[in-house]
Amino acid sequence: MLKKILTGAAIAALAVGLGACSSTRPADGGGDAAGGSGDCNVGIAMPTRSLERWINDGEQLQKKLQDAGCTVDLQYADNKTDQQISQIQNQISGGAKILVIAAIDGSTLGPVLQEAKAQNATVIAYDRLINGSENVDYYATFDNYKVGTLQGQFIEEQLGLKDGKGPFNLEPFAGSPDDNNAKFFFAGAWDVLKPYVDKGQIVVPSGKSPANDDAWASIGIQGWASDKAQAEMDNRLSSFYSGGKKVNVVLSPNDSLAIGIEASLKSAGYTAGADYPIITGQDADKANVKAILEGLQSMTVWKDTRALGDRVFQMIQEIKDGKTVEVNDTKTYDNGKKVVPSYLLTPEVVVKDDVQSKLIDSGFLKASDVGL
Ligand code: BGC
Repeated sequence: MLKKILTGAAIAALAVGLGACSSTRPADGGGDAAGGSGDCNVGIAMPTRSLERWINDGEQLQKKLQDAGCTVDLQYADNKTDQQISQIQNQISGGAKILVIAAIDGSTLGPVLQEAKAQNATVIAYDRLINGSENVDYYATFDNYKVGTLQGQFIEEQLGLKDGKGPFNLEPFAGSPDDNNAKFFFAGAWDVLKPYVDKGQIVVPSGKSPANDDAWASIGIQGWASDKAQAEMDNRLSSFYSGGKKVNVVLSPNDSLAIGIEASLKSAGYTAGADYPIITGQDADKANVKAILEGLQSMTVWKDTRALGDRVFQMIQEIKDGKTVEVNDTKTYDNGKKVVPSYLLTPEVVVKDDVQSKLIDSGFLKASDVGL
């Protein structure tokens, strides 16, 4: 009984400790700037349709908002910064009072956000931080550093690095240099792996081993493009893996890069089986989940985009009702002008054995999407 009560108390204490702290909406002189519930005009700016996750992100949020009676304009910008800026400008001139933006290049939106502020619009950075602007009110994302930590720890465990095993040949990759998330993903993974590089348990035959977290962009793949990742892996394999040398592990920050890397490995003759390298990923894209089931990718870090949509939907309700917006991190995301109040969700690892229980049973993917 006592144990039960203590456990209950401990859980309650933990809940308070971890509990969401709050941040009030910045005073913008506009009073109820987003208007009452009758005035819910939302612009959603997503980066590209070329990646499954952004299609899901955009469509899910749009539907929830429309069901709640909001006017919604959803735009995709083909990964082109100028296009995204003009889409946001159109949303502002269309009367948007809340902007939800997954930036392509988070450092280029300052001027357009100035226009947004001029009409008292509230700006939520979605998944990716927007840098260099005062006019970013909130940030909703998954814990990006944790994504990288999960990838690094997966490699550490699979290779038995803590037990001193090695040396293993690693090829590390990083995400798009213009995406603020990419540096967090890399830092999370490299903080786990770099000590093993220093000890010689991990070797990077290509030499593309950043000296520290800040040097990550030197191995970044512009636009998160699969074909660029493939070409880069082709180069590394042909230049540094002659004479039967094999890659043991590839740190890939996400699924679009992993797809390119896997294509490159395939054309170099690697096949699923004991000697196939460990490959990480992120997003649980259909093609990658299939690859996981086929033994061609080891894991993906799953970020349930529905939970992110729900969180942003809740933020929008709070903003338009003039309530306090719930956040749970007020330290991590400094955009160069301010620390943006953030809500961080928790990512999780998915391996072959969890595909059914985590991805299919939850309805995130259909069995038929992945050939089950
Ligand atoms: C997102 C990832 C995604 C990548 C490429 C990042 O900002 O957080 O989920 O894989 O962009 O679109």
